[in-house]
Amino acid sequence: MSGFRHWVKERRHPVAKAIYGIATARRHLEVPVIPGIHKGLYHLHGSVVSAFRDCTRIFYRTPIFRSRLARSGRQLYLDGAGLPLVLGPVEIEIGDDVRLSTQVTISGRTRATPRPTLSVGRNCDIGWQTTIAVGSRVVIGNDVRIAGRAFLAGYPGHPLDPLARAAGEPETEDQVGDIVLENGVWLATGVTVSAGVRIGAGTVVAAGSVVTRDLPPGVLAAGVPARPIRLLVPLAATNEAA
Ligand SMILES: CC(C)(COP(=O)(O)OP(=O)(O)OC[C@H]1O[C@@H](n2cnc3c(N)ncnc32)[C@H](O)[C@@H]1OP(=O)(O)O)[C@@H](O)C(=O)NCCC(=O)NCCS
Repeated sequence: MSGFRHWVKERRHPVAKAIYGIATARRHLEVPVIPGIHKGLYHLHGSVVSAFRDCTRIFYRTPIFRSRLARSGRQLYLDGAGLPLVLGPVEIEIGDDVRLSTQVTISGRTRATPRPTLSVGRNCDIGWQTTIAVGSRVVIGNDVRIAGRAFLAGYPGHPLDPLARAAGEPETEDQVGDIVLENGVWLATGVTVSAGVRIGAGTVVAAGSVVTRDLPPGVLAAGVPARPIRLLVPLAATNEAA
């Protein structure tokens, strides 16, 4: 088959040239949009896909995902198709009213004793393509928001020594640490949090930042490495002022 493809692509023979012409012309074929029909079909498509996804979420995906959890609260919402990817021996506890993208990856360090644990509080969002690597313990408090493509790096996966790495040895103990996000933390898109870091209550970490050291509560932090930039006004204080 690949020999035939090659022969067609070379276009030396008139038949090969004709086949190539038909194959490329096919790519450019299109029909005009008929608003009354295609708009309706667009919405129908969306409704059918969403109804199917809801059915599989309610009757199949959520219960089988819950069966993998050590504890799960009420109203767990799996956002998207498929299931979050869980790798390794990680124990997972999830509180009430949590929304978890199905494109989240949760991994547990294989050689850890005791077993790595991930604890998620109530009313949390964990966005798409976020990875939570649990070295020892990752604690996510209540009302936490984690946007897409965040990385909680509780263990790095490889040692720094090139010979040990080439030999397939795991990371060393000093590279592993707990990560704690206190209540009300918001990690914007693409934030990385290193092992051993605690982020204080209500703190917001701006997009693309890398948090390598503890952050205090109630600040906006940004940068690589992330540093507090300004104090945030607590909601209670705003209400009082109003
Ligand atoms: C957190 C966020 C909303 C804060 O925005 P903000 O209130 O407009 O921030 P400020 O205007 O107070 O910025 C304060 C300082 O931080 C800097 N800053 C803001 N975001 C930054 C970032 N991602 N990285 C580095 N510095 C940043 C600003 O340049 C400014 O510096 P300056 O005072 O020297 O000018 C914003 O930074 C952010 O991350 N937005 C993306 C949100 C997101 O990912 N949403 C996805 C859905 S959850």
